Amino acid sequence: MIAQAVGLSSFEITAGAHFWSSVSMIKEAMALADSGSVAVLGCGRCAEIPIRLLNQKFDRVDLVDIDRDALNFVRAGCEKWNDERNVYKFHHADLTGVIATVERRAGELVANTVDPIECSEQLGILLERTTPKFWKPAHSRRYDLLVCSGVLTQLQALVRERVEKIYFGKFADYAPSLSQHKSWCESAWHFARNLEDRFIEHLSKLTKPQGIVYLSDTVHVSWLNQLDHKSVSTEGRWIALRTERLADYLRTSDSIVHEQRWDWLREEGEGDYWGRLYGVQAVIYRNS
Ligand SMILES: C[S@@+](CC[C@H](N)C(=O)[O-])C[C@H]1O[C@@H](n2cnc3c(N)ncnc32)[C@H](O)[C@@H]1O
Repeated sequence: MIAQAVGLSSFEITAGAHFWSSVSMIKEAMALADSGSVAVLGCGRCAEIPIRLLNQKFDRVDLVDIDRDALNFVRAGCEKWNDERNVYKFHHADLTGVIATVERRAGELVANTVDPIECSEQLGILLERTTPKFWKPAHSRRYDLLVCSGVLTQLQALVRERVEKIYFGKFADYAPSLSQHKSWCESAWHFARNLEDRFIEHLSKLTKPQGIVYLSDTVHVSWLNQLDHKSVSTEGRWIALRTERLADYLRTSDSIVHEQRWDWLREEGEGDYWGRLYGVQAVIYRNS
């Protein structure tokens, strides 16, 4: 693949542009939803989510993440604002519902397997056989609005990372080559796509009939090398999901209200790389 040069000043692709694109789409989704309840799944630090606006409109704002520090960060922000109205509820939870079990079983497999290749194959089988038990709120609550910003690609990534960490704990020398083991890669791919499909299916059960879902993610990723202080180059872009279009995951019965795409440049030194260019996609749809 031929490297492509990109002028850093030629695009409106900064983190700020990403933030405003996200906020604008979420505001549009909010305007379409009834004001009962909203859940933000994988809320992280709410860096791209206007939670104060959610707090103003909805009677209940559920914030869910596996990262306790991120939830504490958001909670501290909410306390600092000291808004008259405060309807946030924080949920420290694994949205997939399988991480603890997969970690335990991966630990047993790694402990009992001598051959690293066989072990990676067994771990792949473990992933493929894992059935998600997605997070549900108490009392089978169904939401008027769901916000899933940047979480779809991360669900499988986190499970895979946890398994790889256990594997590398014993087979450290295999760290560089695991991503080239065919059977491990195929199993991880099938696990990821299956988890994504089921997660989208699950969203339909968390949302009220005719409720609204805002789904966005970094569908394309390009790793960037710095050429000089004004330009970077990339060898191409990778698709993080099954297809080029996020909305391909939706069911035919879901009605798409608005689809949007934008670029997001992140300077975050990563090994030899200067940063990443994400191709973000967002879709607002109405649950059938
Ligand atoms: C890219 S970040 C989302 C950023 C967020 N939308 C924001 O505005 O800052 C993905 C989030 O998903 C969370 N996540 C990933 N896997 C998860 C899981 N299994 N359960 C709960 N949260 C998860 C991560 O902890 C992280 O906070």
